[in-house]
Amino acid sequence: MTNDRIHHPGLAAKIMSADDAAGLIDNGMTVGMSGFTGSGYPKAVPLALAARIEREHAAGRPFKARIWTGASTGPELDGALAKADGIEFRLPYNSDPIARDKINRGEMEYFDMHLSQVAPMAWQGFLGPLDVALIEVAGIRADGSLIPSSSVGNNKTWLDRADKIILEVNSWQNPALEGMHDIYYGTALPPHRIPIPLVRPDDRIGDAYFRCDPDKVIAVVETAAPDRNLPFAAPDAAAKAIAGHLLEFLRHEVRLGRLPPALLPLQSGVGNIANAVLGALVDSEFEDMTAYTEVIQDGMLDLLACGKLRMASATAFSLSPEAAAALNADLGRYHDRLILRPQEISNHPELIRRLGCIAMNGLIEADIYGNVNSTHIMGSRIQNGIGGSGDFARNAYVSIFMTPSTAREGNISAIVPQASHVDHINQDVQVIVTEQGLADLRGLSPKQRAELIIAKCAHPSYRLALENYYRRARRSSYGQQTPSLPSEALSWHQRFMDTGTMRM
Ligand code: COA
Repeated sequence: MTNDRIHHPGLAAKIMSADDAAGLIDNGMTVGMSGFTGSGYPKAVPLALAARIEREHAAGRPFKARIWTGASTGPELDGALAKADGIEFRLPYNSDPIARDKINRGEMEYFDMHLSQVAPMAWQGFLGPLDVALIEVAGIRADGSLIPSSSVGNNKTWLDRADKIILEVNSWQNPALEGMHDIYYGTALPPHRIPIPLVRPDDRIGDAYFRCDPDKVIAVVETAAPDRNLPFAAPDAAAKAIAGHLLEFLRHEVRLGRLPPALLPLQSGVGNIANAVLGALVDSEFEDMTAYTEVIQDGMLDLLACGKLRMASATAFSLSPEAAAALNADLGRYHDRLILRPQEISNHPELIRRLGCIAMNGLIEADIYGNVNSTHIMGSRIQNGIGGSGDFARNAYVSIFMTPSTAREGNISAIVPQASHVDHINQDVQVIVTEQGLADLRGLSPKQRAELIIAKCAHPSYRLALENYYRRARRSSYGQQTPSLPSEALSWHQRFMDTGTMRM
């Protein structure tokens, strides 16, 4: 044993520098890395690999790798490797600005996918072989099993499928993480699938540790570096108004008996608006709530701290630096109220449907019929990716999408005649909320939805233009089920491209 994190002598004997470990990754390899939002990603070997790639390129030798992760990561991984021009292919989610630019310039291939589907697709085999798993862990136990870090993501699958394994043991991660994870090993491919035995968000159905074949481990690297997430913005007037409409909706549903007083398990997406809604729940009358979600962000932690949230199940933390430091200082307090699971379980359609989650996600634009674009600006430029929004939206008890009614200082309407790209078809979008109001679309036909969305959600500066478009579509559309004027709908977007503004 070399330190209090590595208790397996055989693996302790494989400790080496990050540079030496990066030297074990070859050009063209596929590397499955840990990491989900800015949590639990490897922090030393990707940096060393980026430096090596830069040296190879300077010497005129090609070097690129295929990178799979849980979701987005930190600048030491996506940022450094993209800057070094070292990523040939990336899945399943990215929010790094350097990688985003490379993707949008056509210099990096990106497979943007439903996060629950990554592990099953890897097992189905068509993503190709996995050469190396590069996984951050909080410790190695005497039997060789691994204490997971601050995210679980696809680590179980990468460890199982990879030919070789490199471990980063990060002593910055709190030892109190041990025991918080629930790693389910019962998934299989058809025809051998069985029901997943989780019926409440706080059920534990697996192990606290990753299984790992010590013979596959080719390197162990010691690190002591913090997770890195961006801070959340303080909620502005729009975020507060959105949260207010949403809370009123939830109260209404409880009054009608369609939701229990403690609500149903909450799922909250990424971004400032989602975080603001959680903040509003802190000051609400709702108590004894639970969360079955993808990430635990600051607002979720506040809800846990004030006792209104009984427990939260997720696959990762996604905390601002301040919240991460606060959690790290006091993790023992939350130990029994937080469960981190593989993302195929945190986002599993079967479980989301069974538990009846209340899904709350952000959007880029929604059209007047309620089709939602979560991923592409102007139909072709990727922002982040679909992430888990599709896993939750289609299977939730109620599927809510939230956005300010305008973007870019009011120059673009988030409500448009026809979405320039569709991630969530109107059947998967039940409620749309902007600071202007809330449209409950359940049970409505397309024309009824259009009238409600324009009236309740559009910003007043764009409402007339949308009404005008809809009136003319009612007069001269080819069909009247979903009236549309396709060439005009698309020129709505073109107007912004041509003039830099979409104001009418
Ligand atoms: N037209 C053009 N640009 C738009 C736009 C629109 N209608 N709406 C937003 N944008 C731009 C913003 O200006 C901003 O650009 P910038 O980065 O250059 O400043 C960018 O898109 C992000 O917008 P912002 O308002 O900061 O987004 P957000 O933090 O509220 O996140 C999403 C919104 C949709 C990007 C985010 O929720 C997301 O990535 N969703 C998909 C994944 C997901 O839902 N995961 C959770 C599942 S568990």
